[in-house]
Amino acid sequence: MPTIVFVSPKGGVGKTTAALLLANQLAMAYDVTLIDADPNRPIRAWSAGGHAPSRLSVVSDVDEENIIDRIEAAAEKTPIVIVDLEGTAAKIVVLAVSQADLAVIPIQGSQLDAEQASRAIKVIKQREKMTGRALPYAVLLTRTNPVIRTRTMSHIQQGLIEAGIPVMQTELHDREAFRAVFSFRQPLQSIDPREVANLDKAQANVEEYAAEIVRGLAAVSGAQKSGVKVA
Ligand SMILES: Nc1ncnc2c1ncn2[C@@H]1O[C@H](COP(=O)(O)OP(=O)(O)O)[C@@H](O)[C@H]1O
Ligand SMILES: [Mg+2]
Repeated sequence: MPTIVFVSPKGGVGKTTAALLLANQLAMAYDVTLIDADPNRPIRAWSAGGHAPSRLSVVSDVDEENIIDRIEAAAEKTPIVIVDLEGTAAKIVVLAVSQADLAVIPIQGSQLDAEQASRAIKVIKQREKMTGRALPYAVLLTRTNPVIRTRTMSHIQQGLIEAGIPVMQTELHDREAFRAVFSFRQPLQSIDPREVANLDKAQANVEEYAAEIVRGLAAVSGAQKSGVKVA
């Protein structure tokens, strides 16, 4: 407890990046398990670089047969479990969502589309029917321009909010440093600032993002204890 799942309406929106950045940041303060449930195993490939933080365990021997067991086992071992998933249609996604305490729906800011978010939310609502338990969730806008906010972007973001879809205040900007995490197979924290532009800004962005997730988790667990229904 808690388990955070990353559910995305489609591939390439920055889901694996967002999951890995969060896991590395939280592993500075907590023991974290990151479950790589994407059959392409991008996180296993990353951790094979040998630079994963000591408090981060990566689990990648997962499939739809064992995902629930893997999440349960991880939740017994570490206080935080993060699950990176493939596209929303797969059964493994539904199973992982059934175990979650918080779902993050990354959506690429540049091609933001409420339609996409609603497909991911459908999986969440389905789980609510299955388990009778609400699952708090929020959309995370990813790969946004740190300098310019386009009118289209503001407009669509407003649309999501008006549709009652929770949107995280923090956005993950489009940063070379976030790509470098994968190409160097290192956590952001150990990348040499001489090698990548704006590493400090990327780091500040991730800290803000992780802090918002931690606040969200605190709100969720407080609400669960008090019996209040969230989202
Ligand atoms: N915030 C970001 N800044 C820069 N590049 C990003 C960012 N998020 C994702 N990318 C790049 O976009 C591509 C797809 O990202 P990925 O995290 O693998 O998406 P998904 O898991 O949704 O398929 C990768 O090449 C990744 O490096
Ligand atoms: Mg991915």
